[in-house]
Amino acid sequence: MAKLWTGRSEGALDHNADAFNSSIKFDSRLWRQDIRGSMAHAAMLGAKNIIAPADAEALIAGLGGIYEDLSQGKLQIDPSCEDIHMFVEQELTARLGDVGKKLHTARSRNDQVALDLRMYLKDEIALILRKIRALTEAVTDKAEKYAGAVMPGYTHLQRAQPVTFGHHLMAYAMMLLRDADRFSDCARRVNVCPIGCCALAGTTYDTDRLAEAESLGFADISQNSIDGVSDRDFCIEFLSCCSLLMMHLSRFSEEIVLWSSWEFKFIELSDAFTTGSSIMPQKKNPDMAELARGKTGRVYGDLFAMLTALKGLPLAYNKDMQEDKESVFDAADTVKMCLDVFTPMVDTMNVLEDNMLSAARNGFINATDLADYLVKKGVPFRTAYQLCGKIVAACIESGKTLETLPLSEYKKFSNAFGQDLYDEIRLDTCVEKRISEGGTSRSSVEKQIAYVRGKLRNV
Ligand code: ARG
Repeated sequence: MAKLWTGRSEGALDHNADAFNSSIKFDSRLWRQDIRGSMAHAAMLGAKNIIAPADAEALIAGLGGIYEDLSQGKLQIDPSCEDIHMFVEQELTARLGDVGKKLHTARSRNDQVALDLRMYLKDEIALILRKIRALTEAVTDKAEKYAGAVMPGYTHLQRAQPVTFGHHLMAYAMMLLRDADRFSDCARRVNVCPIGCCALAGTTYDTDRLAEAESLGFADISQNSIDGVSDRDFCIEFLSCCSLLMMHLSRFSEEIVLWSSWEFKFIELSDAFTTGSSIMPQKKNPDMAELARGKTGRVYGDLFAMLTALKGLPLAYNKDMQEDKESVFDAADTVKMCLDVFTPMVDTMNVLEDNMLSAARNGFINATDLADYLVKKGVPFRTAYQLCGKIVAACIESGKTLETLPLSEYKKFSNAFGQDLYDEIRLDTCVEKRISEGGTSRSSVEKQIAYVRGKLRNV
């Protein structure tokens, strides 16, 4: 296919160089944005009399026809074109003749590609936000259902203090809420229109950038044309939002993998979200969670590819920037896929409350509460802490728990102990007394649930 840019050169591009240079295999997915952008551009050119209004109308109708034909599969994208912008312009000229050649007045592929990618990301972010919202709702609904299910809370993956499964899940809801907030914030900076920056310097034509931007639904225009075509911060921000979200999904995945193991047995995943083994008939593997954890590295890779590609680039456009699309597309696709399996996986998982409770009964996770009991009886905390440490050691020695150690034994450590200690160290007491904001008591968790649901209304 002859190049539209054969202005100066005469010799044909080397075959391998042509394939190397071409981006149509991945940027063809921008055809809708490219055509919509071109329609707005033609309209602006006509409205400002830069081209005849009748020509603008012909261009818009021609572009509309291409859009229709591509939508209906009547037209195929020509893979021998260099990129999607060239394909659309070439097809338009094939259909309209010389009028088609007027479309590229007062613009360049440099501002065009930046526009297309921003339009694409605006839609992708809206989609991702809807999916984050759905997952947050699923997590919050589960948390509400299990706001009374006592489990061991962990630090260093050692049983630490009793919490509820609802409380634990709401920690993920908070992370997801921050993710949503970050994507929305990123969307504000994506929502800036670069078209009209042209190659880099602006244009001598009397264009109306604001009107063109508004007609495409943008909130603002880029204020410096060199920046407008060089800026890929919005891609990096998007990739960093994706990376953080994936990091959260990956931590959640790791817990799902642990919880569904025989060693924990806190949850059982639905058959719809597990796989078997080709050799071990007893296996039910948490592949979806493992894949989400694995794909996190790939999204980080997309972020680092972009950060690295940009770091040494002189202003303004450089062909290196063509690399932005594969990273952005891959991260967007990966994040959407992960969210699509995560939400129903969480929704359908079976929570084994009894197993959580028996795990909570072992491991002396009420030792802090025992120390707090002594503090309330007037013992300084550090002294109480040391006494309780010795009591735990004695229990381990004699095969007892804090609940089953007789009062006479407790008295050997401190006279401050009385019969009421047993009430104080009951697991449900330990949970229900943690009424501090953000704590694990049912009332605190209910407040967290209400907080998240309130915030979700604006996501
Ligand atoms: N395919 C190119 C890209 O994705 C479009 C912009 C080309 N601009 C240029 N001056 N060669 O970045």
